[in-house]
Amino acid sequence: MSVRILGIESSCDETAAAIVADGREILSSVVASQIDIHRKYGGVVPELASREHLRQIVPVVREALLQAGLNLSDLDAVGVTQGPGLVGSLLVGITYGKTLAHSLNKPLVPVNHLEGHVHAVFLEAHKNGQVPELPAVCLIVSGGHTVLYEVLPQQEKGQGTRVEAAAQLHYRKLGQTRDDAAGEAYDKVSKLLGLGYPGGPILDCLAAAAGSAPAPVKFGHIKMKGNPLDFSFSGIKTAVLYHIREHAEYAPEIAAREAALERGERKFEQLLPLCSPQTLGLVREFQNTVVRDLGDRTFGAGEQVGAATILVSGGVAANAQLRTTFEERGKSGGIQTFFPSRALSTDNAAMIAAAAYPRFCAGILADTSLNATASLPLS
Ligand code: KG4
Ligand code: ZN
Repeated sequence: MSVRILGIESSCDETAAAIVADGREILSSVVASQIDIHRKYGGVVPELASREHLRQIVPVVREALLQAGLNLSDLDAVGVTQGPGLVGSLLVGITYGKTLAHSLNKPLVPVNHLEGHVHAVFLEAHKNGQVPELPAVCLIVSGGHTVLYEVLPQQEKGQGTRVEAAAQLHYRKLGQTRDDAAGEAYDKVSKLLGLGYPGGPILDCLAAAAGSAPAPVKFGHIKMKGNPLDFSFSGIKTAVLYHIREHAEYAPEIAAREAALERGERKFEQLLPLCSPQTLGLVREFQNTVVRDLGDRTFGAGEQVGAATILVSGGVAANAQLRTTFEERGKSGGIQTFFPSRALSTDNAAMIAAAAYPRFCAGILADTSLNATASLPLS
C-alpha cells in the first residue's frame, strides 16, 4: 500500500493543496493564485494574502481530494509548510493542517518550503524516469529567495548517489542574495518600465522578442566582495532606474503601457507593440545580466563542491533563457541540469507533500503546538 500525503502550502501568495503517493506520484495538485489581488499593488500585500488564504484553503483542499478521487480517511498524513514565509499566510495553512490532522487522528509533518522546492525537481525527474544524482547543487530562485545549497545524501555515499524518495537529504547553504531576490528584481524592473506584475513572465517574453535590437546600455558583471557564491540584484535594478531617468524618451511609452495595464491589457501581444526597440534592448540586457550571473555562481558552486548534478527550482526557474543557458552550460561542462516543469517551479503543494514523505518515514512529526517560523533555516 502506498503512503498518501496531503500537502498544504500557504507561505506566500498561492494557496495550494496536493496529494502525492510515496513522495513521487502526484495524484492531484491544486493551486489558487492571488496574482489578480496583488497586481494593483505591484507586489504581495501580506494582510490581503492571509485573508485570501482563509477564503481559499477549504475549497482548494476539497478540490485536491476530488481530483485524486480520495476521501480524507484515505490519507496517511498531512504535510504543511512551516516556513520560511509570511507569518500570517503560513498560519492559515498550519492552523488548517493541524486541525485536519488532529481531527482525522493522522500524523502532521512540518515541512520547510525551501526543501519543497528541492523536491519539486525530484518530482519532475521522476515523471521523466530519472533520478538526479547527489551530491547536487540546487539554486532556488524566486520572488522571495535566491539561494544556493549543496544537497547531500544522509550518509556519505560518495559521488553519483541516486537517492530513494524516502531518504532524508542534507543541505549546506553555499550562498544567498544579500539584498533583492532575482524574481524581485524582475518585478521591480517590470514596474519601472510600466509592464505590470509579476514581471518575470512578461520580461522573459520581451527579452526573447528583442532580437538584435541595439543595447541602449551595457551592464557589467555583478561583483561580490567576500563569498563569491552570494548574489546581489539591487544594483542592476538601480542601474535600470537611473538609465530610465536619464533618458526622457522612455517616459511616453511607459505612460502608454501603464494606461494599457489600467485597461486590463497586460498580455505579451498587447504590450509588445507599445515597446520601442530601445526598451526591448534594455530588457534583453537586464535579463542577460541576471541569467549570466545566476549561471556563473551556480556552476561555480557545482565545481567547488564537485556536484554530480545541478538542480534549479522556484518561480524564476520558469525563465526560458535561464533554462536554455543552464542546459547548454551543463552539456558543455558534462554536468546534468534538472528543472521542474513550469507548474512545479512556482509555489505548489505537490512539492510540500513530496518533501513531507521522507520526514514521515523518519518519524519527524509535529503536534498541535506547531507554529509558523518566518525565517525557518534549511539544514
Ligand atoms: O516561486 P514563486 O511562484 O513565488 C515566490 O516568490 O516564492 O516565484 C514568483 C517569482 C516572481 O518574482 C516572478 O516574477 C518570477 O518568479 N517569475 C519569473 C518567470 N516566471 C515567474 N522570472 C523570470 N522569468 C519567468 N519566466
Ligand atoms: Zn517558493
